[in-house]
Amino acid sequence: MKVKRADKAGFCFGVKRALDMAERTVEISSAVSLGPLIHNQQVVKRLEERGIRVINGLEETKAAQALIIRSHGVAPCVYLEAEKKGVKIVDATCPFVQKAQRLAAESAQKGQQVIVIGDKLHPEVQGILGWAGEQAIPIQTVEEARELPVYSQLAVLAQTTQLAESFSKIVEELKHHSEHLTVHDTICNATAERQKAARELAGLVDIMVVVGGRNSANTRKLASICAESTKTYLIETADELEPDWFAEAKSAGLTAGASTPDWIIEEVFKKMSEMNDDGMDMASWDEGFQE
Ligand code: F3S
Repeated sequence: MKVKRADKAGFCFGVKRALDMAERTVEISSAVSLGPLIHNQQVVKRLEERGIRVINGLEETKAAQALIIRSHGVAPCVYLEAEKKGVKIVDATCPFVQKAQRLAAESAQKGQQVIVIGDKLHPEVQGILGWAGEQAIPIQTVEEARELPVYSQLAVLAQTTQLAESFSKIVEELKHHSEHLTVHDTICNATAERQKAARELAGLVDIMVVVGGRNSANTRKLASICAESTKTYLIETADELEPDWFAEAKSAGLTAGASTPDWIIEEVFKKMSEMNDDGMDMASWDEGFQE
C-alpha cells in the first residue's frame, strides 16, 4: 500500500512557537499554562511530565512562577491581574492573534462598533473581545449579522481559523448595516492551507487517516473535509490504527490537525507504511501522484 502525507499538515507556526517558548521556560523556572497549551492530550501529558502544570485561573498561580499564555491569547485583564500578583508572563500569543487583538482595540478606540466573526466560546475570540471593550459583538452566521441594527461606524474582524468563504458572506451582509464599514481580514492561512492539502490528497487515495485530538475543532474539520471524498478515520495515536481498515486499500493518505506534533505524525506514518507493504519505494510513489 502506498502512503502519502498531505503537503501541509500538523503544527502551525503559532503552536510550534508556543511550545518552543514553553519548553525553554520550564528549563529555567517553574511554570504553569493558563488552559492546556494545545488541544492534544499526548503533548499536554508530556509537558506535565516536564513540569508545566495546566491551571484554569490566576488564583492557582504563585508569585515568581512563570505563567505561559497560549497561542490563542487572552484579554488585557489577565495581564493586569498577573502583574498585580507578581507573576511573570511568558506571552506565547500567536503574532497573528496579537494583530487581531491590536486591531480590535484600535477600532474600539476610534469609536467603531467592533464585530468579531467566530465562536464566542473559543478562548481566542474571548481574548479578542476583551481587547475590543464591552461593546464588541461576536457573531458566527449571516443570520446573526442580519439581526444587527444599523451603526454609524462598524469594524469587523475574524477569529484566525474562520473559513474565508463564511467571513466574506457575513461581511457582505454587514455592508447593509453601516455606511462606514472597515474590514480587517485577520484569517490565518495555516488553516486554509491544511484543509486544501487534505482535500486534494483525499481525492487521490482509497483511505485517509487524520491524526489529532478528538476535542480539536480543526482536526475534526479536516476529517469531515476528507470524508467528503474518501473513507476517513480520525485517530489520536498510532495504536488506534486497525489493519482491517487497509485490507482493500491500494493507497492511503495522512494528514494531521494543527496541534499534532511531528513525532506522532511520524509514528502513524511508519505504522501505516508497514500495514500493507507492497515494497514500493517513495520515488515511484511520488511519480504515481504527479498527474
Ligand atoms: Fe497562529 Fe494561525 Fe496557528 S493564527 S496559532 S499560525 S492557525
